[in-house]
Amino acid sequence: MANILITGASGLVGKKLTELLLHQNHRVSHLVRSPEKGAVPSFKWDIKKKYIDPKTLEGIDTIIHLAGAGVADRRWNEEWKNEILESRTLSSRLLYETLKNTRHAVKSFISASAIGIYGFTLSDQLFTEESASGNDFLAQVVRAWEHEVDQIAQLNIRVAKIRIGVVLAKQGGALAQMALPVKWYVGSPLASGRQYISWIHIDDLCGIFMKAVEDQQLHGAYNGVAPHPVTNAELTKEIANALHKPLWAPNVPGFVLKLVVGEMAGIVINGNNVSAKKVERAGYEFKFKSIGSALNDLL
Ligand SMILES: NC(=O)c1ccc[n+]([C@@H]2O[C@H](COP(=O)([O-])OP(=O)(O)OC[C@H]3O[C@@H](n4cnc5c(N)ncnc54)[C@H](OP(=O)(O)O)[C@@H]3O)[C@@H](O)[C@H]2O)c1
Repeated sequence: MANILITGASGLVGKKLTELLLHQNHRVSHLVRSPEKGAVPSFKWDIKKKYIDPKTLEGIDTIIHLAGAGVADRRWNEEWKNEILESRTLSSRLLYETLKNTRHAVKSFISASAIGIYGFTLSDQLFTEESASGNDFLAQVVRAWEHEVDQIAQLNIRVAKIRIGVVLAKQGGALAQMALPVKWYVGSPLASGRQYISWIHIDDLCGIFMKAVEDQQLHGAYNGVAPHPVTNAELTKEIANALHKPLWAPNVPGFVLKLVVGEMAGIVINGNNVSAKKVERAGYEFKFKSIGSALNDLL
């Protein structure tokens, strides 16, 4: 059984992953900004002050790095964009420096990454792990984040990066926001509705992280998306079907989205069509391959 430290453990993915890892009899501890007494030991870090509780790495053989400021938590301004970037790059660098300068037994480092690395486009071009990265703000963030994470491989530690798609979960995340207007009979596709959403059910995402913990062959980047991405219009229709609600409202125009959320609107007006082939070839078997099966489970 692995002895796993999770950063960003209080978030959507960290909570569910902790539950599933404990269920599989792994040992889990958390590295968080505000430690609390809970089911697992939790240690403090302060990324800006370059501080990590010195006891954190005792006995740890695997790190799962999820920490990062919520991309959609606030309207983007320069300060928040910097927080989005530095909460990922500086945290990864601090972990690198700690691993470099401390005696430890860490063998595997599994990091969250994001499909935002490919950039967002209206085309149906399929992005694989070999595709070039994009040029928009998020692509730059993810590239810089992965660059910091890759340094850890120089320490003789296996590094795997899961490029996460749009995580669908019962509570929180994108699905709750998309389902709400549909529940209130005002749901509609966004912008053209033709943009791809490369989604993943949270159980499958956690399954991929667990595979990366257990399978020493996994290293480098893997897309964490389901095998069949859908367009925004298809997803909206499937949500309405799962909730037994009608869809009648016209698409929300892109310019309205820009007015409401500013620069961040680019993520929803455009999308990306991302391949799950590599992780499937590595032996991961998806529980939820179609959007219908995922939504029936979640809604
Ligand atoms: N959910 C998605 O659809 C999705 C898609 C693509 C990529 N990802 C990436 O996957 C990772 C986990 O996703 P998630 O949905 O679980 O994220 P989340 O719910 O936003 O949780 C991220 C966690 O990171 C920590 N954190 C927040 N702000 C921070 C800051 N300024 N500095 C350092 N740590 C901070 C917090 O943990 P503590 O309070 O415990 O420290 C927080 O609970 C994130 O890095 C996210 O960008 C997620």
